[in-house]
Amino acid sequence: MKVAPRLTVGQTDALATKLLEFAHGAGVLRAGPPDGLWSEFHSLRDRLYETFDVPDTTLTPLAARVLYGLAAIHRPGHVAVLGSYAGNLMAFTTGPVCGPFASYPGTALGLDTDAAAIELARANFRRAGYTGARVACGDAFEAAEHVGSAPVDLLLVDIDVPGARKSGYLRLVQAWLPYLAPGALIIAHDIAHPKFTWDLRCYRDFVLECGAEQSTSLPTDECGLEVTSWRGQIQGDPAWA
Ligand SMILES: C[S@@+](CC[C@H](N)C(=O)[O-])C[C@H]1O[C@@H](n2cnc3c(N)ncnc32)[C@H](O)[C@@H]1O
Repeated sequence: MKVAPRLTVGQTDALATKLLEFAHGAGVLRAGPPDGLWSEFHSLRDRLYETFDVPDTTLTPLAARVLYGLAAIHRPGHVAVLGSYAGNLMAFTTGPVCGPFASYPGTALGLDTDAAAIELARANFRRAGYTGARVACGDAFEAAEHVGSAPVDLLLVDIDVPGARKSGYLRLVQAWLPYLAPGALIIAHDIAHPKFTWDLRCYRDFVLECGAEQSTSLPTDECGLEVTSWRGQIQGDPAWA
């Protein structure tokens, strides 16, 4: 049997550094990765391995680092995660903001229609020692019902709707645009997954037409992440309006 070679921890850190530098070069991040980023990440990852119960995930070690790094560099005050399931992607993305070793205080909201997953996520965040992270059972398309008073500085999109799968990303982003802070980051998971090519083929054109400043894909793994920087203004008369 042929076993695919796996990256070492150090190699994965180095690759994540390259992807974050690429995101900086592409203009979606205002800075590159700082010194000490990966030692902070490893403390969090060890805590999550000890405390989180995640029945199913497509999150890879490289994507976990990139999500953590994007948030650590962007420093969002408030994060919204649409399709949070048991909280795995949310935990890495919100680690620098409200995780047990967070470097500054922030808040986060995770939404999912699966009540059992929300219960699991709530227990996971409690065991891991997150403060300021809240999860709620609800339909993420109903943005106005869930959004609080704080503008969203980082929006992570990862819903998977039975029957429609990922084709709802465009309408979902559209529903949340009015609540994004100027300069917000939007991260879309699964942008490169071959299963979702048709669902997401217009995603980047759509966000750019809506008024995004820059958008770039990070090839973290088979799923991929699209990272978009939001300028803060919906374009004059976009085709979808
Ligand atoms: C791919 S999973 C999310 C994985 C998750 N981000 C993680 O960290 O493992 C997709 C999730 O989207 C949720 N979902 C589907 N439609 C939704 C909707 N309208 N609003 C909120 N969540 C939804 C599903 O219940 C499912 O848990």
